[in-house]
Amino acid sequence: MANRTVHLPVAPLEPLGGTLRKDNWWAGPAATILVLSAFIVYATWRAFEGSAYQWGAYLSPFYSPLLDVGWARKTGLAFLTPAMLILPGPASFRFTCYYYRKAYYRAFAWDPPACGVGERAPHRYNGETKLFVFQNLHRYAMYVAVVFLVILWKDALVAVFGWSDGAHVGLGTLVMLTNVVLLSGYTLGCHSFRHLIGGSVNAYSSAALGALRFRLWKLVTVLNERHMQFAWASLFSVALTDLYIRMVASGILTDVRIL
Ligand code: FES
Repeated sequence: MANRTVHLPVAPLEPLGGTLRKDNWWAGPAATILVLSAFIVYATWRAFEGSAYQWGAYLSPFYSPLLDVGWARKTGLAFLTPAMLILPGPASFRFTCYYYRKAYYRAFAWDPPACGVGERAPHRYNGETKLFVFQNLHRYAMYVAVVFLVILWKDALVAVFGWSDGAHVGLGTLVMLTNVVLLSGYTLGCHSFRHLIGGSVNAYSSAALGALRFRLWKLVTVLNERHMQFAWASLFSVALTDLYIRMVASGILTDVRIL
């Protein structure tokens, strides 16, 4: 049969920001700019501050695991703090996250800013094939994030059992536990993690450990369906956990012992 060219109707291009939408489509991108910018400024400031990250059995997630950077002073890198070595790990996970990519491409690049809204460079997006080709390394960043998650769960347990006068629960313990639960929801709901658990299986009935993998895949899917919510909630919780520990360690706040 002879090939025939089919011409599909092409919607007229809207100018940048132009749209027929009547809703507040700009609210999402605006909130993304605000929250991500605030987080980056705060995390950078804390990484340079290099103090008030530990109090009693509490350890800030920005400074976990506890690294000794005493060697840096001898090598002329006196400005180096543990957080500067730690934060690139989780940051690479968030930066390459499929959800965050959508959010910050829309918010910062306007290509497009939202569905049905005129974009900056119509039909010229080449995203992950050129400048952002490194985004395809997300699955490796996920392995790094899982390691950090294990470390943060250990920190949360230390926040209960690591006191010199025996186990107890303070407000900081609850803050750290909430943070690691939200981070678990975010990390284990990752699209790459879901693929690792069950995405590569053609038939669970014939795969090794198929029944177990199917059950785990269903659990991970529940988290994956809420990935956006976990992404934002865990971003807030990790910053607020650091802030709480900083305030307690600086004497601005007094930790409340609950149990
Ligand atoms: S897709 Fe968002 S963390 Fe992997």
